[in-house]
Amino acid sequence: MVSVSLENLTKYFGRVKAVDNVNLKIEDGEFIALLGPSGCGKTTTLLMIAGIYKPTRGKIYFGDKVVNDLPPKDRNVGMVFQSYALYPHMKVFDNIAFPLKLRKEPKDFIKKKVKEVAELLKIEDLLDRKPSQLSGGQQQRVALGRALAKEPDVFLMDEPLANLDANLRVIMRVELKRLQKRLGISTIYVTHDQVEAMTMADRIAVLNKGRLQQVGDSKQLYDEPTNLFVASFIGSPPMNFVECTLREREDGTYLEAEAFKLKIGENIGRTIKENATSADLILGVRPEDVSVSKRKNLGTFEAEVYAVEPLGRDIIVNLKTDGTLIKMITKSTFKAEIGEKIPVEFDLNKIHIFDKKTENAIF
Ligand SMILES: Nc1ncnc2c1ncn2[C@@H]1O[C@H](COP(=O)(O)OP(=O)(O)O)[C@@H](O)[C@H]1O
Ligand SMILES: [Mg+2]
Repeated sequence: MVSVSLENLTKYFGRVKAVDNVNLKIEDGEFIALLGPSGCGKTTTLLMIAGIYKPTRGKIYFGDKVVNDLPPKDRNVGMVFQSYALYPHMKVFDNIAFPLKLRKEPKDFIKKKVKEVAELLKIEDLLDRKPSQLSGGQQQRVALGRALAKEPDVFLMDEPLANLDANLRVIMRVELKRLQKRLGISTIYVTHDQVEAMTMADRIAVLNKGRLQQVGDSKQLYDEPTNLFVASFIGSPPMNFVECTLREREDGTYLEAEAFKLKIGENIGRTIKENATSADLILGVRPEDVSVSKRKNLGTFEAEVYAVEPLGRDIIVNLKTDGTLIKMITKSTFKAEIGEKIPVEFDLNKIHIFDKKTENAIF
């Protein structure tokens, strides 16, 4: 078990900057998710940690030791990929035993270890089968077993659940999380699925275009996104965004959009003025912070019901106002006809304000 630190980690492929100056520390025993859209540099980062790719710049530490020049086999990492990459001609037993044989461990030890891992993953009955005789979920467990058998210091997983069907993915999410906590192995888990990252990881590192955007636990990322990218990537249904302008009027400070004028408190106004590069802003509000106004007030505006998406317990109401669509999530007891106009308001304590130019959160 070790901590892993990435220091100014950078990787070019020709002229493509796949990973751009990433600084991140994965604490001893921590489960961290690298989250971001396809092509943002997650796999490249993981493969540098594994020693398969050489960084163009920057350092990788295991504990306080720089491992840049250490070959993969000497890093003692366990890897699990989306594709499982099991050896098709080998039985499950031999697949799991393979890294131990490579290490020339004694036969008795290998037998004991494979048995132990198989018990842990509940695949004792499958040891004599070939991978082709296993379901996707079982193959997944075998791949995990092979990574665990060598008692890695660091566990690296690249979209390991992506090939499983939805039900199994939900089950494996929980199982993997329990397993990681039980074994206490520092784990770096790559995924493009925000739900996976949010539900499984202690902390999440959000990447976009090779750059680290924000590191935090689920609640921090959800409640205090540091920029427009994180705000739009985390949360489902996603946060609503409306372009607006900061206006000082005689009776106070307003956020004005085509659809509405929101009077904001002095404090918010001052913070925005101090931090924004101009009056052009983007207001962000999560669907659960949009509601039907009980009584008309200054922040109330009218919107037309455009579509409804019932989800069972909740319902997503798509509201149209001056060409902007806003999603509101509410209890499924909500009743409204398509085309009906309803008074809507935002919870002003929950809104987010972004600078339109820099895309950074300023409130
Ligand atoms: N071996 C490679 N050669 C050239 N470009 C690559 C290679 N691997 C990845 N890239 C590029 O680097 C960027 C990051 O890729 P990758 O790390 O695979 O992203 P992710 O895993 O987040 O989907 C992408 O633009 C991708 O096309
Ligand atoms: Mg990838």
